[in-house]
Parts: sequence; C-alpha cells; structure tokens
Amino acid sequence: MRMVDLIAKKRDGGELTKAEIDFMIKGYTDGDIPDYQMSAMAMALYFKEMTTDERVNLTMAMVKSGDEIDLSAIEGIKVDKHSTGGVGDTTTLILAPLVASVGVPVAKMSGRGLGHTGGTIDKLESVPGFQVEIDGETFNNLVNKNKVSVVGQSGNLTPADKKLYALRDVTATVNSIPLIASSIMSKKIASGADAIVLDVKTGSGAFMKNIEDARALAKAMVDIGNGAGRKTIGVISDMSQPLGFAVGNALEVKEAIDTLNGHGPKDLTELCLTLGSHMVVLANKAKTIEEAREKLQAVIDNKQALETFKVFLASQGGDASVVDDPSRLPKARVTKEVHAPKSGYVAEIVADEVGIAAGMLGAGRMTKTSIIDLAVGVVLNKKVGDFVEKGDSLVTLHTNTEDTKEVEEKLLNAYAIKEEKPADLPLVYDVIT
Ligand code: URA
Ligand code: CA
Repeated sequence: MRMVDLIAKKRDGGELTKAEIDFMIKGYTDGDIPDYQMSAMAMALYFKEMTTDERVNLTMAMVKSGDEIDLSAIEGIKVDKHSTGGVGDTTTLILAPLVASVGVPVAKMSGRGLGHTGGTIDKLESVPGFQVEIDGETFNNLVNKNKVSVVGQSGNLTPADKKLYALRDVTATVNSIPLIASSIMSKKIASGADAIVLDVKTGSGAFMKNIEDARALAKAMVDIGNGAGRKTIGVISDMSQPLGFAVGNALEVKEAIDTLNGHGPKDLTELCLTLGSHMVVLANKAKTIEEAREKLQAVIDNKQALETFKVFLASQGGDASVVDDPSRLPKARVTKEVHAPKSGYVAEIVADEVGIAAGMLGAGRMTKTSIIDLAVGVVLNKKVGDFVEKGDSLVTLHTNTEDTKEVEEKLLNAYAIKEEKPADLPLVYDVIT
C-alpha cells in the first residue's frame, strides 16, 4: 500500500477501507508517513465526505494507536460524560457524586488542558490535599467501593490523535465535523467507557457557534460511538452565556457544593439533572428519563449526593470539611464589584469574553506551563433576562492583582443592557440519539 494512492483516492471522493485507514494511521504514528502526506490527506478529508464506516474506522485506528484503559475490573456499566467545552462549566464536579449516589459507577479521567479556567482536575486540586495521581488498581478499587473516582490523564492515550490534531491546527483542517468527531470520540473510547453522554455546547462561548453545526457534530459523534459499540447520546445545550454564576477554579468548587446542596444556579442545576438522567438510564439504573430524574432529585434533597462528594474527596486525600465550610477553599485577597453603567435588562453576556476576563485574572492556563491561581475568577451577579438598576453589581471579581482595569472593561463589554426584556433562552436545544 502507498500513501500517495490513498491521498489520490480520497481527493477523487473515494471511500477508504478499514485496511487503508489502519495503514495510514499506523504509518503516521510510527513516523513512516511524513507530515506533508498526512497534511494532503487531512485537506482531502476536509473537502470530501467521510462515510460513517470511515469515521468509525478512523476513530478506532486512533484508539489502537496507544494505550487503552481497561475498566473491566469495575462493576457495572461505566458511563462517561464529555463536554465540548464552555465557560464556567462545572458539571463534572457535580455529576460525578450525583450519579454515583444512585449507583452509576463514575471512573473518570480528566484533563488539565488549556483554557479560561483549569480543567476538572485543576478545580479538584483547589481542595487542600486532593490527589489526582493514583494508580490503576487503587482507582478501580475506589470506584467499586464509593462508585466514584477522578484521576488525571496518564499513559499514552491516542498518540495518533495528538499528532494529527497538532498537524490539523497548522494546516487549516481543524474545522471539519468528521475529523473533530473522530478526534473527540477516540479519546473517550480509549478511556474505557461503555457508554457516553456528550454535552455539545452551542453559542458564543462554544466551539460550535450555531445550532446547526452543534447538531451535526453531535450526530457525527453519536454515530461513531454507536458504530463502535458504545451507546452514545448527545445533548445540545446553550453556551451563549456562561453556565452558572462562577468562573474560576475554587469558585466553581463552591458552586458545585451549592448545587449538590440544592441551592445552585438554576441553569447549572437543570443541565446536571438532564445530563445525569441520561447517564443513569444508560447505566441501567432507571428505565426512563423521568424516573432517573426523580432519583437524582431525591439524592440532592436528602443530601446523599453531598455526602458522596465528601467521601470522594476524602478517599483521594482531600479535606472534605470544605463541603460544610467552603471558606476553607483558596481565597483571593481582594473582591471588587463591576457596576452596571445603566438600568435595563441584561440582553446578552458574551461567554467567551467572560472566560477571557477570568483567564486574565489568572484562573486559566495560556500555555501548558503557566501556573493557575486557583483562588481567582469572576462571579456573575446578573444573568440574561435579569433587570439591573444603574450602579448594581453585575460581576464580582476575585483577584490577587490590584490593577484590574482591563478586566473590568472586558466584562462591561461582555454585558449588553437593553430596555426590552429578552426572550427566554432554551437551555437544552435537542437530544440526539
Ligand atoms: N477537540 C478535539 O479534541 N479534537 C478536535 O479535533 C477539535 C476539538
Ligand atoms: Ca459556573
């Protein structure tokens, strides 16, 4: 087999066979196929359609390129959740103890990653003592015992995807739905999940800015997951404004505690109940979404979910007393209010800009080696649809730097205040099965 022939075949709109895709991905991972040939292939894939078979085969070839996590020592159906990424998305911190409380095993590997705030792992590290590096056997035992454990990524997962994603980044071929879907699904499948719930975000703070693209991406990922034998569903949710109120690591841990206590932000609570219900059904712990939702609501109401969160934190060395006393979490030196410049209804809060503002305070990583300030971030006091009087606080900054003029300007620009009350935003647009 020759790579040049495969490039020509795809260029002319042909369908690559499993053997051809395996040859290409193995060759590329091993360094036998050079970047320039893979670049040409990525562009051909970008412009031509990929069939579902091709997408599944590409995904599985990338899965096979590295280590695969074996979760078979863990009892039950392991359901993973993946979000395509948003601003202030605290759902994993809440969902893990929440669904574990109704018997769904949560064996989660999470990333640090780059972005406006840290990843789930960084957020958890704001709990004093919490350990994210634990060995596989301990991890399996913790999930069997407590139904939940979250660890940092280890091992060499999907090296083909790493290499290909980096190449796509510099050859203008990232923005292809089949390639994005295969990339994301390869990582989920290599992490060992039996079933997957995808939270595909749409709106100003999301990768997919409009609903049609979000729907297409969700459908592509659901088809790959199901084609690879992992039951997968996709929830399309709103990211046109940040989720919840808090954007920042320790601030989001506090928000998670509030939500598990039953008094979290309405949108965040609703999204967790929606995603959680699908996880519970996929894990066979309820027959219908309605039954699953009732079970989840019950463990919030009777504080069992909060108790599971404490057990989970303590089991990985964390100081579980933060749950009853969140003031023990890292705290910024200064809080500052950003005031509304006029009266009216909040019509829009550009999520990306809020994320960037939190990042500028030090809540996120700009490069792989930047150090995160776990204490800092922003808390939104007003969300879309709220009425504000001139001078009301729109946002509270939690900062360790005094000079926050640029951050304040960014936040003021993110808020649109209008005379008319805006129409209610849907939180969940669609569920793709
Ligand atoms: N995120 C990924 O993991 N892969 C892509 O290709 C795009 C976004
Ligand atoms: Ca939040």
